[in-house]
Amino acid sequence: RTVYVNGEYLPETEAKVSIFDRAFLMADGVYEVTSVLGGKLIDFDGHAKRLARSLKELDMKAPCTEDELLAIHRELVARNEITDGLVYLQVTRGSAGDRDFAFPDPETTEPTLVLFTQNKPGLADSPAAKTGIKVISLEDIRWGRRDIKTVQLLYPSMAKMAAKKAGCDDAWFVEDGKVTEGSSNNAYIVKGGKIITRELSHDILHGITRAAVLRFAKEAQMVVEERSFTIEEAQQADEAFVTSASSFVMPVVELDGAQIGTGTPGPVAARLREIYLEESL
Ligand code: PDD
Repeated sequence: RTVYVNGEYLPETEAKVSIFDRAFLMADGVYEVTSVLGGKLIDFDGHAKRLARSLKELDMKAPCTEDELLAIHRELVARNEITDGLVYLQVTRGSAGDRDFAFPDPETTEPTLVLFTQNKPGLADSPAAKTGIKVISLEDIRWGRRDIKTVQLLYPSMAKMAAKKAGCDDAWFVEDGKVTEGSSNNAYIVKGGKIITRELSHDILHGITRAAVLRFAKEAQMVVEERSFTIEEAQQADEAFVTSASSFVMPVVELDGAQIGTGTPGPVAARLREIYLEESL
């Protein structure tokens, strides 16, 4: 596999980043995941805009322009012959050659830019989309700026492991009794035909797939309500689902052991998945 590191395309075994890089020492980095379907990048503009926002919120320098980023994405997709898969991008504050809590001088420190691809044949035909996934709920103990897509992913990883240990697929986080989002996706329920998902704030990541799906839902005359909901309300909903760049629209059929709706993917989630994939291709 060919990867990209700071201006160079290299075999993955030759790619190097400093041990003093602040992402390695302090999780001082941000990332984006863009999916590729049929060789085409999905929602690149949205991901590039959110990256720019994450960088700005953390006073981090942009490593290059949006056009240059697009060119690197395309080059990697071509070099690695990705038809269906993902492009992972990470920007870090770089390294001043030592460990220090204070940010290094941006005038003399260059950000680190790393990109690699992941080949996922049949990404859009995942078997889980046909059966739906099972989730558990966990207290949301992440930091208070979840709208910034940082590489601090230890708790989401622990949540994923807890879900697996419980015989489930993923976790939904709960704060003050209300669902924030999934471990790596945005969370939704459907009740009486209405699509309900938490409003945007610092509490959740502003999903690029979320924005697209809500736009398509409104265009299809579906009713969207942006507000938080409890686990109990979700368990009594007609349907539930999650969205992300890597799972698109994924039905949720069980929450903390309670079956949601009929225990099979519901019509709204199935329809939204279909529309999303149609519009993206
Ligand atoms: N995760 N919420 C969280 C906490 C996420 O990590 C993600 C994405 C989302 C959905 O955002 P989007 O629709 O822009 O992918 C919501 C990516 C896919 C990941 O970490 O792999």
